[in-house]
Amino acid sequence: TSILLINGPNLNLLGTREPHIYGSTTLEDIEKRVQNQASDLGATLTSFQSNWEGAIVDKIQEVRGKVGGIIINAGALTHTSVAIRDALSAVAIPFIEVHISNVHKREPFRHHSYLSDKAEAVIVGLGDYGYTAAVDYLLKHYKS
Ligand code: DQA
Repeated sequence: TSILLINGPNLNLLGTREPHIYGSTTLEDIEKRVQNQASDLGATLTSFQSNWEGAIVDKIQEVRGKVGGIIINAGALTHTSVAIRDALSAVAIPFIEVHISNVHKREPFRHHSYLSDKAEAVIVGLGDYGYTAAVDYLLKHYKS
């Protein structure tokens, strides 16, 4: 099994970015942790982060037919990007949407996601544990 983890804009600043909302764990720590988690279960996980919408679309297209599942925290692009939604639909790879914070108890513009109705599951508000839960779920439910 192979999984792709995608993090969108500003998630490269995890650890120092509004730690009261996003916690103090860095993206590098999270990526290492889930990589180990996957390899312990005999799977491969690759990580990708970009602040650019088009780069995320390119990455999703690139893994078509190559990964069994995607875990995506699209950051602010969650609330704006029809392009990322369309890319995920185009490649037809099952994906889990993750948000570190509980977007539903924040500003109203964070309540709508262009991805959620296409996702296998949506995890919000569990902090960085959300990524661990997503990997665990994907590895139990999808093989390829
Ligand atoms: C986020 C929530 C988004 O609204 C925000 O723009 C982010 C992070 C989260 O993980 O809680 O960048 O996706």
